[in-house]
Amino acid sequence: MLKLNLGCGPHLPNGWVNVDYALGAWIAKLPVFSTINKIFKIINLNWSDKIYLHDLRRKFPWEDNSVDVVYSSHTLEHLSKSDGRHFLRECYRVLKPNGIIRIVVPDLRAIINKYTQGKIAADEVVDEIGVSYDSPEDGVLKQKLAPFIRFPHKCMYDTPTLQRIMSEIGFEAASKHAFESEIDDVGVIEQPERAGEAVIIEGRKISTSTYKPVNLVQDCISS
Ligand SMILES: C[S@@+](CC[C@H](N)C(=O)[O-])C[C@H]1O[C@@H](n2cnc3c(N)ncnc32)[C@H](O)[C@@H]1O
Repeated sequence: MLKLNLGCGPHLPNGWVNVDYALGAWIAKLPVFSTINKIFKIINLNWSDKIYLHDLRRKFPWEDNSVDVVYSSHTLEHLSKSDGRHFLRECYRVLKPNGIIRIVVPDLRAIINKYTQGKIAADEVVDEIGVSYDSPEDGVLKQKLAPFIRFPHKCMYDTPTLQRIMSEIGFEAASKHAFESEIDDVGVIEQPERAGEAVIIEGRKISTSTYKPVNLVQDCISS
């Protein structure tokens, strides 16, 4: 069984291929830099040297129809709108027919609701949405390195939006609660603090023989 945990961060469940591209994950594979980092504490080194390094904005290194399950938590929102669509299309390509995808992201609607209900002030909205590199508690070096070691959010989602996008790509997609899943070992990969208030969409790749993903450009050319 091939199961991918895309954008794993420091959470590496057993039985999953844990994929990330953070500088810390690179450095963890280089013993010399790892030692220097331990002395100067440049990067938070919770990172394991077991992480499979891949930039999720690029074509995935797995074959078509070769993967059983894709799980990705709090990562899609770190990709731009177009990179995010590409990422989901790559998930579709590598999944086997009937393969499962589960995407967990922060809920923009919940954040906006907190603001309109007066639970957070206007100047806290940007922090909540997570779009800023700004972290005043960081030292000068960390601030300079921010574009390489911080991953601000580049796109936000709510339940209907993510469900629609995944359906358009070709998944049979439904909204789920935390730990409500067809993934047998969801309990080892899902983190309660990540899934609690989040948007969770789980989908299944509909067999390519019965479903043709929407391709608006092609439809326009041929009509
Ligand atoms: C907020 S963390 C989520 C970690 C973990 N999945 C969780 O839910 O706690 C986002 C992760 O996505 C990774 N990431 C962001 N952009 C990426 C990219 N282009 N390729 C691979 N990983 C990326 C970051 O390095 C980071 O580890």
